[in-house]
Amino acid sequence: MTAGRKMRLGSFLTAVGEHMAAWRHPDAPSGDRASFRPYLEIARVAEDALFDLLLIGDVGPNSDAPLETLVLNHGYDRLDPMMLTAALAVTTRHIGLVATGSTSFETPYLIARRFASADHLSGGRAGWNCVTTSNVSMARNFSQDAPAAHDDRYDRAEEFVDVVRGLWDSWDDDAFVRDKASGVYFKPEGLHLLHHVGAHFKVRGPLDAVRSPQGRPVIVQAGSSEPGRNLAARVADVVFTTHQTIASARDFYRDIRARAAGFGRDPDAVKVLVALMPVVDATQAAAQAKLGELDALVHPTLALARLSHALGGVDLSPYAPDAPVPNNLPKGIGMQSRRQPLLDLAARENLTLLQLAGRTAGNRGHWTLADTGSAIADHMQEWFDGGADGFLLVPPRTPESLREFAAAVVPELQRRGLFRTVYEGSTLRSNLGLPCPAPRRAR
Ligand SMILES: Cc1cc2nc3c(=O)[nH]c(=O)nc-3n(C[C@H](O)[C@H](O)[C@H](O)COP(=O)(O)O)c2cc1C
Repeated sequence: MTAGRKMRLGSFLTAVGEHMAAWRHPDAPSGDRASFRPYLEIARVAEDALFDLLLIGDVGPNSDAPLETLVLNHGYDRLDPMMLTAALAVTTRHIGLVATGSTSFETPYLIARRFASADHLSGGRAGWNCVTTSNVSMARNFSQDAPAAHDDRYDRAEEFVDVVRGLWDSWDDDAFVRDKASGVYFKPEGLHLLHHVGAHFKVRGPLDAVRSPQGRPVIVQAGSSEPGRNLAARVADVVFTTHQTIASARDFYRDIRARAAGFGRDPDAVKVLVALMPVVDATQAAAQAKLGELDALVHPTLALARLSHALGGVDLSPYAPDAPVPNNLPKGIGMQSRRQPLLDLAARENLTLLQLAGRTAGNRGHWTLADTGSAIADHMQEWFDGGADGFLLVPPRTPESLREFAAAVVPELQRRGLFRTVYEGSTLRSNLGLPCPAPRRAR
C-alpha cells in the first residue's frame, strides 16, 4: 500500500436511513420525506465529517408487486435526485453531490445539460451515477413494456456515456469571448459539434452550457457484471461495489484496475468505494443489539420480495421459504451484482431462503459491521489495503448512524493517518485526487 494514501468516504443520502425498516424505528420521524430539511441536516453532518461525497440513489419501487407487499414499501415519498442536488449545491460548500441518472430511460442531451448545470451551481462538486435500470415497473413509466435485456442495457449505456462526454466537451475553456465591441459572443474555433450517429442515439450538439468547473462532472458506475465492469473500467472516475468478504473485494479491486489499465487508463484514476453499513456503539454487543432491533422490524413478506430482487428478479414462489437456498436458482433479467455474494453467504452458512432474506433484506445485501468505532476502523483499514480506495456508507438510520460514525470512526481513521483532517481542494475531483480532464483541443 502506498504510504500516505488517503481513504475516500461517501454516504448514501436518504431522509430516514438505508435500512429497510429505518422508518419503523420508534425514534424515526413519522412525517413524509418530501421536505428538504432532513436532507440538508444529513449533508451537513457528512460535510462536517469531511466526507468526499453524498450519493443520491434512485431505484424506483417495484409497483407491480401484489398490493399486500406494496403497502409495506417505503419508496414512494422521495424527491427527484437532480432537484435535490440543485438545492444542496447552494446550501453546502465542500461535499461532492452524486446524483443517479438512468441510461435506460433518460436521453444523453438532457443528462449532459443537467449534470453540467449541477457542476456549475455547486462550483465543481457534481457527479453522475450512471445506472442501467432493470426495474420492470419503472420501464412501464417510460413507454416500455419491460426493461431491455441486461447486455442490451449496457450496450445503450456505453453509447449514452460517450455522447454525454462528447457533449460536455462542446466548448473550449476560452471559447466564450463575449466581445462587446465586435458583438462576437464566442470564437468559432472554440466550438466542437458532436455529430454523433450511433445504434441508439443521433445527437448533433453543441451543449448549451460552457465547460464545467471540473472539466467534466465525475462519472460513477456501480455495475459488477462483466459489461458493468467494462463500462466502469473504461469511463468511471468512481466505482461503487458491494462485497461480503475481503477476498471478493480484493479480486474486484484488482480486476477493475487491470481492466482500466487495459483501456489505457491510469488505474489510480479509478476510485473503488465498497458499500458498508456501519452500526456503531460503545461495545460490540450493544451495536449488534441495535442492528437486531432494526432487523426485527423488517416484514417477512417484504424481506422475501427484496431477496427476489437482489437475486436478479428471480421468482421465489416455487421454493419453500424454510428449505435451504437451492443451488440451481434461475438467473432472472434483473441486476446481477448482488446475486453471487448472497448465494455465497447462503452456502457458507447453510441458510434457508427466509433466513437469507432476514439477514440481508434490512441491509440490502451490503457488507455490515456492527461494532465499536475502533473495531470498525480496523476492518476498514484491512479492506483499504488492496481491496478498496474507500467506502460508501449505507447508514442504517439518518442522521443518527452518520453522527455516530462521524464521532467514533472518523477520528480513529484520522489518528491512523488514513483520512483527511481538512478538505484538500474545492472540487470533487480535487478532493478525490482525480485529474481534471483536459479540454478537447489539448487532447
Ligand atoms: C452502492 C451501490 C449503489 C447503487 N445505486 C443505484 C441507484 O441509485 N439506482 C440504480 O438504479 N441502481 C443502483 N445500483 C445498481 C447498479 O448501478 C447496477 O445497475 C446494478 O448493480 C446492476 O448492474 P450489474 O448487473 O452490472 O451488476 C447501485 C449499486 C451499488 C453497488
